[in-house]
Amino acid sequence: MNRIGGVRGKGPWPSTNDEIAVRKWLESKMSKGVELEERHSVVLLCLEWVSGKGRGERLMNSYKFPESKIDKLAIIGDRLALGEPIQYILEEAHFDGLDLYVDSRVLIPRPETEELISAFEQKLKLLTGVSKCRVLDIGTGSGCIPIALKHRMPNLTLFASDFSEDAIEVAKKNSTKTGCDVFFECSDILKDAPFNRGEHKIKRFDAVISNPPYIPHCELNSMERRVVDFEPNSALFVPDDDPLLFYKRIIYLCDEGMLKKGGWLALECHEDFVNDVVNVLESRNPNWINIEIIFDLQGKPRHVLAQIDLT
Ligand SMILES: C[S@@+](CC[C@H](N)C(=O)[O-])C[C@H]1O[C@@H](n2cnc3c(N)ncnc32)[C@H](O)[C@@H]1O
Repeated sequence: MNRIGGVRGKGPWPSTNDEIAVRKWLESKMSKGVELEERHSVVLLCLEWVSGKGRGERLMNSYKFPESKIDKLAIIGDRLALGEPIQYILEEAHFDGLDLYVDSRVLIPRPETEELISAFEQKLKLLTGVSKCRVLDIGTGSGCIPIALKHRMPNLTLFASDFSEDAIEVAKKNSTKTGCDVFFECSDILKDAPFNRGEHKIKRFDAVISNPPYIPHCELNSMERRVVDFEPNSALFVPDDDPLLFYKRIIYLCDEGMLKKGGWLALECHEDFVNDVVNVLESRNPNWINIEIIFDLQGKPRHVLAQIDLT
């Protein structure tokens, strides 16, 4: 049950309960928390979520918002005005064609990560016996990556780890919600190789993917408050003196046998560190081949894909 409900939101209230008045009222209510260009789409999303009806249907039937729904919108507006992301308020994020549950225990999945998944899917299709492939996601958060992969390629077997028990709980909820089966484990990648003990006893994966924390702490003050104040900091930040911490560890574990010969590695990166991640790969033995940088939709270098040598 969503936390919206039960309590009355704060006024002032809309002059009437029709679409235009309610829309204008909600837009003015959230004016502090949401940037201008985003406000319109966020308001429409809220009106649809609260009414359970699309805009066309509301307009066709001259829909009037009942008082109980205006109460809900008022609560949503108050939270948006404080800067809370709409996804946490509605406990819902759209990702790769799926509706995932999210709350403040997990990072809100980003569109760039969908791009990583698309590029990774192309590489997986090159693997022989792709239908039997075992794929590992490290730092799974909401579970968005393995769930989207399973949804795209139902024959894959997906494994996912995160050091946060809260995140694993959310990820399991999303696995159930979407019907996409994934094996989850709570483990710290900096201490243990995932799925290296217990019931699964799987050391080697055909492919590994990760969107690890990658923002140096020194960037905190220049970031949007919406991100810093509401999203889990442990999902975002790395020490200033070791921003490649997770990449070095993941690449080391792959070299040590976590990734099968010929397997693919896909990493989402900070735009400023993509070349450094490539350098780590190039400096390691056994050699990595087919190293590729993928640019995001804003034209920034964002992902690195590489294959571990077959020899
Ligand atoms: C950038 S978020 C990515 C979440 C999700 N994969 C996504 O793309 O939206 C990084 C994730 O790594 C997890 N994490 C941070 N430190 C970790 C560690 N030492 N071991 C395992 N997971 C860790 C965080 O809890 C968080 O869920």
